[in-house]
Amino acid sequence: MPLLMNRTDIEVVLWSEDRLVTRAWLLENIKGAAGVLVLLTETVNAELLEAAGPNLRVVSTLSVGYDHIDLLLMAQRNIRVGYTPDILTEAVADLSVMLALMAGRNDGPTYSLAKNGEWAKYMHNWSPFTFCGPQLSTTASSPNRTVGFLGFGRISQATLARLVPFGITHCIYTSSPTSKPDTARDAALKAKHKLAAVERVDLDRLARESDVLFVLSPGGKETYHLVDATFLRKMKEMSVLVNTGRGTVVDSDALATALHEKWIWGAGLDVVEGEPHIGTDHPLVKEPRCVIVPHIGSATFETRMDMVTRAIDNLMGGLSGGEMPSELRV
Ligand code: DGY
Repeated sequence: MPLLMNRTDIEVVLWSEDRLVTRAWLLENIKGAAGVLVLLTETVNAELLEAAGPNLRVVSTLSVGYDHIDLLLMAQRNIRVGYTPDILTEAVADLSVMLALMAGRNDGPTYSLAKNGEWAKYMHNWSPFTFCGPQLSTTASSPNRTVGFLGFGRISQATLARLVPFGITHCIYTSSPTSKPDTARDAALKAKHKLAAVERVDLDRLARESDVLFVLSPGGKETYHLVDATFLRKMKEMSVLVNTGRGTVVDSDALATALHEKWIWGAGLDVVEGEPHIGTDHPLVKEPRCVIVPHIGSATFETRMDMVTRAIDNLMGGLSGGEMPSELRV
């Protein structure tokens, strides 16, 4: 990380391997540190703070999500926290649309055909509806499409903007029960995208009415398993669920059952509860209509470079006692 290593005003201890840092190394090397830059795979809890000792003033995470950080503890110890909002909005919105298309259009069972040399075999058994799936864009015979968002922050709104050219007609969403309705914002979005509706609804309507549902809420206790068997049972048979938020929001076993028993059409997942320990025996991996990519939402060169720069600016700002460009205030 040359941006940090070239500095002469601080001593930098760097995990230099191209793999996740081990907990043992982190606990050993954080001793006495004034600041730490972490990934979302590092749990920032009492254990880590104990290992660091009383000098620790700043935690900077290379992520927009912060469910790996015990924020209450940070507040109690007066430790400032930096994160990387906004920067990765477009990259995650891109991936969300990609997963909606892949899940709807049978990427699971079709992707490997040519790679495995089975294209001709498949053509031999071809019929007009082989490998058909629900179309994301509207057609003359199917002119309405409702897109649902569980969580309606920056990434959801960027995803909605990408879906407008597909002919999406209705947008429904749920937000945290503690957030105030923003009817002016919704009216502005409705006008801007020429939609029939942009409406905040309850979970019941979100489940029943979404043709494509994007799960884009933060993790944590408040959102744990909001998408469970009861929710999935209410969804349309031809609907597609995309999760680019946090794995813990969706009950994996319930989703596997929903796919297996065809309560819904398909799922596209960038995040899964328990990641990265998702083996070939995982019930979702076994479902042909479940497309899974390994948490690559922000993985573009442009976005990651900007995230690294912001994370370092946050760290340095905090260390100097000055402004952090993206400080998390809870
Ligand atoms: C984050 O940074 O929190 C996201 O999960 C990246 O995809």
